[in-house]
Amino acid sequence: MNLHMSMAVKNIRKIKNYKPLFAKAFGNGDVTEDRIAKAIATFERSVISPPSKFDKFVSGKKDALTDAEVNGLHLFRTKANCINCHNTPYFSDQKFHNLGLTYYGRKYEDLGRYVVTKKNEDVGKFKTPTLREVSENKPYMHNGLFPELANIVMMYNAGMGRETPKGDQINDPKFPHKSEMVEKLHLTDEEVFDIVAFLKTLNSYKYKMRPPELPKS
Ligand code: HEC
Repeated sequence: MNLHMSMAVKNIRKIKNYKPLFAKAFGNGDVTEDRIAKAIATFERSVISPPSKFDKFVSGKKDALTDAEVNGLHLFRTKANCINCHNTPYFSDQKFHNLGLTYYGRKYEDLGRYVVTKKNEDVGKFKTPTLREVSENKPYMHNGLFPELANIVMMYNAGMGRETPKGDQINDPKFPHKSEMVEKLHLTDEEVFDIVAFLKTLNSYKYKMRPPELPKS
């Protein structure tokens, strides 16, 4: 949240009434980086998306999806290869892939996983995101450059981004390489829109979370 963790510790320590809450959760009232991280992670694990149309279909309610949505699901698993990365009930393999969106040496350059690992093979890799609630998550990708789901599926259809080394870049060991799992898909326009229709079935209903009263002083 654009704030250094040490500042978060300082700020939360200043709010005296957090102390008993930390004591209740962790045994004593010490406010530390590790405890703040654990508390936030525990909260995040409680944010679960309720059953979607897709979940109802999979659990046996055959008419939960329209023909177009079923066809989209079929393509997602077959011709369009999406499931190779967007798999498991979470719709993510939790791995890092390069989709050719590094914008290497250009205005929007983002080296992705490399920034953390410093390994050349990680340049331009990003973690596969979940697709649950995806139609509510625009704009898309790590840089928010894609406004609509249809833009993304069309990009995948075209084989995603292309990074071609220019001049000296040929010998640049850091030059990013697109995953071999991403290639032209040859989907028709109708198939693209069926996949988009399927992606929308991963939504559940909107609900408002009521925040508890938090200590202010
Ligand atoms: C090689 C693995 C891989 C394959 C195959 C793949 N994806 Fe992805 N997908 C990713 C990764 C990694 C990202 C995140 C990229 C980024 O942030 O720049 C992503 C992002 C997305 C997003 C954006 C989600 C968001 O919240 O920003 C959508 C939608 C999506 N993929 C749908 C699909 C569909 C539909 C297919 C099949 C046509 C597909 N993906 C195939 C790995 C893959």
